[in-house]
Amino acid sequence: MSAEDEKRLAGEAAAGRVENGMTVGLGTGSTAAWFVKALAARLGPGFAVKGVPTSEATAALARDLGIPLLTLDDARRIDLTVDGADEIGPGLSLIKGGGAALLREKLVWEASDRCLVIADAAKRVETLGKFPLPIEVVAFGHKQTANRITDVLAEHDIGMPPRLRLKDGQPVVTDGGNLIYDAACGRIESPAALAEGLKSLTGVVEHGLFLDLADEGILGVGAAVQWLAP
Ligand code: 5RP
Repeated sequence: MSAEDEKRLAGEAAAGRVENGMTVGLGTGSTAAWFVKALAARLGPGFAVKGVPTSEATAALARDLGIPLLTLDDARRIDLTVDGADEIGPGLSLIKGGGAALLREKLVWEASDRCLVIADAAKRVETLGKFPLPIEVVAFGHKQTANRITDVLAEHDIGMPPRLRLKDGQPVVTDGGNLIYDAACGRIESPAALAEGLKSLTGVVEHGLFLDLADEGILGVGAAVQWLAP
């Protein structure tokens, strides 16, 4: 089984958790896309849902597949959000934002009654930090903000300065019009303290540490799925 198969299995298992009439947060990335496809395949007489997308890319996919969408503001409540992750650490602590959607993802996650993280087996780690931590910053003065991020990282014994995320030589611009810096942390010994330090910086919009947000997880492991609890 490939990682893609594991992502598909996790996405399909998550779609099975959705109940008729739910408002569902739709995550971003390749694993979340499997979930969105499996959810759309269930639509029909006796099964209707509304989706709240976490990115323009997911909104386009869901629209193509016929899932009715709501904006976050129009959704009175979100019953369940299903989304992928770049790393799943102890207690279902997560690094997210590899797809540059972390801000909208966190807004939707925080507005949800329950959050389910889905991933392939390789995403499970003992300590967060091998995957570079995405940090979304406003474009104005972003190099100054990056210097301040470097200082906060140094307080956490992380010596590498964050790197501006580029695609085809150009800065990646998020759906919110911001930029992404990726911090190669190696090991994040105190995720909550690092999260607080980053969030305190003017210019930092959000970071990819999702702590105490996931209620459960589904990991594709070979041909099976494994359920994870915090
Ligand atoms: C997007 C995310 C994704 O959930 C994360 O990058 C995992 O992506 P994939 O399922 O493609 O491995 O956080 O911002």
